[in-house]
Amino acid sequence: MSAAAKAEKQPFLTDVKTLRARARKNIAENNVTETYTADPKKTIEILQTVLATELVCVLRYTMHAIAATGISSEGVKAEFKQHAKEEHEHALQVAERINQLGGKPDFNPEGLASRSASQYAEGENLVDMIRENLIAERIAVDHYRELIRYFGDNDPATRVMIEGILTVEEEHANDMHDLLVAHQGKPMLPKD
Ligand SMILES: [Fe+2]
Ligand SMILES: [Fe+2]
Repeated sequence: MSAAAKAEKQPFLTDVKTLRARARKNIAENNVTETYTADPKKTIEILQTVLATELVCVLRYTMHAIAATGISSEGVKAEFKQHAKEEHEHALQVAERINQLGGKPDFNPEGLASRSASQYAEGENLVDMIRENLIAERIAVDHYRELIRYFGDNDPATRVMIEGILTVEEEHANDMHDLLVAHQGKPMLPKD
């Protein structure tokens, strides 16, 4: 088989020289390479919303972990605290990704709640708090599922990151659902 015919058979392999030249060119710009087919500006804009959502979740769970009172609230408080820590990890991951894409992660407290997909809700009592968290988790789960479909193959790195976060949010939603059943006898919201 001739070299030309061979090359024709492997249309998807880019030679090392071209890859190196591209990488060198991109160093001067940012970490987005030419094979990145999503719109980086749009991706950054979306990730700012995800960052705000995660930060609001950190604040809500932290407040609940401290303010929850009542019989058998200790276990619930520990769960809220653990979730606050995980939401913080998510926020950092998302902020890092924004930075990699050449953006500036928006940590400005001004307008944070309106940038977020989920709400900051205090809740009147333990059951209220659990219910607010369950609602917030379900909103996050819906939003992230949508984003995974949106990023698809155009931005696999962002998609994989969101997939990892989604797995944890699904666990959070499940934890809140189980707590609601345990503390209220029956869930106020259907399982799905
Ligand atoms: Fe999260
Ligand atoms: Fe969560």
